[in-house]
Amino acid sequence: MRHLMNPLDFSVEELDQLFDLANDIERNRDKYAHACAGKKLATCFYEPSTRTRLSFESAMLSLGGSVLGFSDAQSSSATKGESVSDTIRIISCYADICAMRHPKEGAPLVAAEKSSIPVINAGDGGHQHPTQTLTDLLTIRTLKGRLDQLTIGLCGDLKFGRTVHSLINALSRYEGMRFIFISPDELRIPDYITEMLKDKNIPYEEVIRLEDKMPELDILYMTRVQKERFFNEEDYIRLKDFYILNRKKMQLAPKDMLVLHPLPRVNEISVDVDDDPRAVYFKQAQYGVYVRMALILTLLNIHVD
Ligand code: CP
Repeated sequence: MRHLMNPLDFSVEELDQLFDLANDIERNRDKYAHACAGKKLATCFYEPSTRTRLSFESAMLSLGGSVLGFSDAQSSSATKGESVSDTIRIISCYADICAMRHPKEGAPLVAAEKSSIPVINAGDGGHQHPTQTLTDLLTIRTLKGRLDQLTIGLCGDLKFGRTVHSLINALSRYEGMRFIFISPDELRIPDYITEMLKDKNIPYEEVIRLEDKMPELDILYMTRVQKERFFNEEDYIRLKDFYILNRKKMQLAPKDMLVLHPLPRVNEISVDVDDDPRAVYFKQAQYGVYVRMALILTLLNIHVD
């Protein structure tokens, strides 16, 4: 039995197979429509979500399976003091696979250790968000045609943004990557990530101004300032609109640069960018369904001919 806690749990070769499967699912939806008949997915979300929870549910329903779960810790027995370890033992009696989001870093890992079904980390605190990373990688691979030889700018809240941490880890395994970290000082990328890049001799820069770096980018990965991780509301208010990507700034970017965003967006991308063909964040959300379908099939060891 396999779990997914971190994007690095899959080798580069396994990820290639997963993305090939996701692309096949996109082209041949009918072929997979009953692949999970009789199987159940539990979504245990102790933190709010729109995309991750609903795309998991959409993925399982599109595979002919069923879904159950909770979308709020307040409606679960966590409010009575039940531990994550006990909860997953119970969920293991009710479902075949579980996607779990939790505000505490490492909680899905604790669950996986006690689980008798595959557990997928659907986001743990400011730590990791591996299925968002699978979504991001599939989007880049499909629309750019490659996952190597890319200059990627990551902009916004690089301190608390778990999607950013997961994505850098995953992309650091591909050849010819160059990272440009664009953030205010207070939201800089954590040192453990820059240390990892130094150890691997992967080039990176840290800058404050987005406009200066736009012409160099193959990918611009925008992120929202993570209000829920701030201790002090004044700091959040001061930083929340630090970057706003708009149509004027997009004129500085190469014609084939892609703009990704894990969403939800707040103000960091103006709606006037949405019609730009380089803005692919809504397509990205659709790829999230295909890759989660591929992941469910892979973890349940279901093969479709
Ligand atoms: N991208 C993402 O994780 O969105 P949700 O918080 O809505 O799941």
